Amino acid sequence: MPSVYIKTYGCQMNERDSEAVAAQLVAKGYTLASSEVGADVILLNTCSVRDAAEQKAIGKMQNIAAEIRRNRPEVVLGFMGCMAQSRGQQLIDKLPDVDLVIGTQKFHRTVDYLDDILAGKRTKVVDVGEEQGSEATIREHILNGNTAENLVTAFVSIMQGCNQYCTFCIVPYTRGEERSRTIPDIVAECRELIARGVREITLLGQIVTSYGKRDIPIKDGKSGFVQLLEAVHEIEGLERIRFTSPHPKGYGDDLVEAYARLPKLVESAHLPVQSGSDRLLKIMHRGYTRERFLGILEKLRRIKPNMGITTDIIVGFPGETDADFEETLSLAREAKFHNAYIFKYSPRKDTPAAEMPDQLPQLVKEERNARLLALVNEIAASHYENYVGRQTQILVEGPSKKNSARMMGRTRTNKIVVFEGSERHRGQLMDVKINRAGSFTLYGDPAILNLD
Ligand code: SAH
Ligand code: F3S
Repeated sequence: MPSVYIKTYGCQMNERDSEAVAAQLVAKGYTLASSEVGADVILLNTCSVRDAAEQKAIGKMQNIAAEIRRNRPEVVLGFMGCMAQSRGQQLIDKLPDVDLVIGTQKFHRTVDYLDDILAGKRTKVVDVGEEQGSEATIREHILNGNTAENLVTAFVSIMQGCNQYCTFCIVPYTRGEERSRTIPDIVAECRELIARGVREITLLGQIVTSYGKRDIPIKDGKSGFVQLLEAVHEIEGLERIRFTSPHPKGYGDDLVEAYARLPKLVESAHLPVQSGSDRLLKIMHRGYTRERFLGILEKLRRIKPNMGITTDIIVGFPGETDADFEETLSLAREAKFHNAYIFKYSPRKDTPAAEMPDQLPQLVKEERNARLLALVNEIAASHYENYVGRQTQILVEGPSKKNSARMMGRTRTNKIVVFEGSERHRGQLMDVKINRAGSFTLYGDPAILNLD
């Protein structure tokens, strides 16, 4: 059977989509290749959130066309995902070697299109239409073979799309309107995963706090998302629940209180803030103020003082003044994030911010990026240092990526811990004593060895 290589760019949603496509291909008899060399089909699952991500995937496809397709003209080349959605046919016009362009609501059609192309029934296929019910089609998992570490943790897609329309963001255009799966459908998928050995589940969506907003009525003051958390929490054998990404405006008291009520919900949250300036937050269409954002963190930390809170911040948004940027720096100091992903603003096609006056020079973006990064890293380092000498629980995921002789696990607060262990620890909840903090990594020993 033909072998397929899938390369993924961008966020965890893309990783999950690629995994589901891979599993659908395997179910139909295709094999998975670990690199493009020798593969019969090469698919790039793309990201559009910043220009650099698009250019990377286009550059990669140009290389593949020049180096692989030239020698093996029968190789099938395809783009999937966000850039496929936003550029469609243009991609084939620009790169005539490309055979297949599959949009974000069509991942599950990949197998059929490949069958047809390989059988010579069709040549070029571009499918970027909308499809009702497509939010429920990302459900197959690969739990064996070359991705064995996934046995311990798994991602489950709960919704697709976003209706927030932040003025800088292309996602509402590439991923479409918010569409949620049903609670029973999601719970059934989680149950299957747990039956196969998974112990931690991360619920995924572009704006998970909007889950079920249109379809699931508020019950006892609880949003659809909190009702989903409760339903997943009941599954026996599941140890930990995570989710990403929430929107700060979705952090109502029902969700804050869920951290106190639901022990499997870990003390970790990725809460994108984007800016510390109220003026910019408004122009970005974020739907909260600096004060409201800091208020949420305060409430969360009142319940879980050690909560591992991370964020995304954009520097160099159009019209961002020195004073606005100072507000972002001061917010970062006050919020004391455990980590922050900083992005230089990148104008995106058809988004309002791309048309705004006062686009800032690259140099300003780079300077602000460097200043903020230095501050964020300093604060993060102090959080990591705080663990040294303490005992903490980890869930062991498998060998460390940097050094496969050692094992790695994650704390409930989402910090990586590397320790001397063995395969038999995989999937275990273990107490470790932390003896050293490196850059965004902790080093520990199983606590049983530290009887002093
Ligand atoms: N809610 C989604 C957001 C996807 S984009 C999620 O977390 O999955 C991820 C991050 O990229 C955003 O939080 C934002 O900080 C950044 N980003 C989005 N559009 C951007 C742009 N045009 N330029 C720079 N960074 C951007
Ligand atoms: Fe993008 Fe804002 Fe939605 S960042 S994904 S439009 S919440």
